[in-house]
Amino acid sequence: MGRGAEPLTAHETAGPDEPSADLLAQSVRFQEAFEFAPDCQLVTNPVGLILEANHAAVALIDHRKEFLIGKPLPLFAAEGSRSRFYECIWRLDQGAPNDAFESRVVRRGDGPRDVHAVARAGERRPGSRTPAMIHWIIRDVTEWRRSEATRAELQRRLTTAQEDERQRVARDLHDGTGQMLTALSLGLRAVRDAGPLTQEAHARLDHVQHLIDELARQVHDLATALRPAALDDLGLEAATRQFVVNWSKRAKVPTDFQIIGPHGRRFPPEIETVLFRVVQEGLTNVAKHAGAGRVAVMIGSTAENAVAVVEDDGTGFDMEGVAKMLLPGEAPTGHVQLGILGMRERVALVGGTLEIETTPGRGTTVIARLPLQP
Ligand SMILES: Nc1ncnc2c1ncn2[C@@H]1O[C@H](COP(=O)(O)OP(=O)(O)O)[C@@H](O)[C@H]1O
Ligand SMILES: [Mg+2]
Repeated sequence: MGRGAEPLTAHETAGPDEPSADLLAQSVRFQEAFEFAPDCQLVTNPVGLILEANHAAVALIDHRKEFLIGKPLPLFAAEGSRSRFYECIWRLDQGAPNDAFESRVVRRGDGPRDVHAVARAGERRPGSRTPAMIHWIIRDVTEWRRSEATRAELQRRLTTAQEDERQRVARDLHDGTGQMLTALSLGLRAVRDAGPLTQEAHARLDHVQHLIDELARQVHDLATALRPAALDDLGLEAATRQFVVNWSKRAKVPTDFQIIGPHGRRFPPEIETVLFRVVQEGLTNVAKHAGAGRVAVMIGSTAENAVAVVEDDGTGFDMEGVAKMLLPGEAPTGHVQLGILGMRERVALVGGTLEIETTPGRGTTVIARLPLQP
């Protein structure tokens, strides 16, 4: 490849006449924009041999420019990443105007760097699909990836810590408050059995017994909501069924409960917790916002996914309006809505997707799909 393809020194190709001052100034500006661009910029010939590389490219690969010139660009891709570079070159050769991909490049004496690469075909000669040269912009996204990974890890730890704390409070409620209420109930019976009581005393004892029963039910509901111990003991299906039946009674909304796929299948604990939490938050929202006449809850699995669905025939809502309020960084107006956001985060943490279909006046369907390892 001769220096004739060199794109950056306009004066070399300006012909025998001296280049005009304007053209020269433009060329210098262009040269500087290329040279000092924050992203790596390279120019290769159509088969990927490097013709030109700017400062950032030299810094990324950490070889002198003279060493880079004439070498194939894919040579600097990390093990296993080379073929995507060649595929890109092939695509442009086949007429594609541009291509973009994630990859890794090697920095001398350092680990591989994550990059985002964009390639654009230069002018094509008349009658040829092959571009005269390829312009590359390669952005080092290693630090960005790292901070993303850290954020995800912190989020995961936070959620785990939150689950642990809930489990602890739930256990305390069950073992402490729950046991005391049982003792209270037994004590009351002992008083009743101890001897003849006036009718008024009986009526009072009945009332106290009623209060204790109600309190025990509330403590049980609270403990279940905090951490469905039943998830560990009974398994997902029975625990969810129990929750749904209780919810339906309390909310006074008839609710269907169905299993998708094979019955009695167990999933990893974190998957079961997420499915349960989606049903919980989904039903809480139905009770709070939907004014539904009927609800259907489904949990189970398909070939690839564990699935939870909560469907209501209520008011529905403007998803876009809510999504706007949930945008990160935007000051929330009024109360902060964390339900849907929380569901999304939990689902995302196990690599799943949360889909919400809703039409004002026609009801809402929440579908969580969590990938299962084969
Ligand atoms: N099943 C539903 N039916 C109608 N509106 C809903 C439903 N689920 C959510 N919404 C709407 O979406 C908003 C956001 O829900 P969410 O994030 O759970 O926050 P919150 O329940 O605390 O308001 C709710 O305020 C409500 O307007
Ligand atoms: Mg909510």
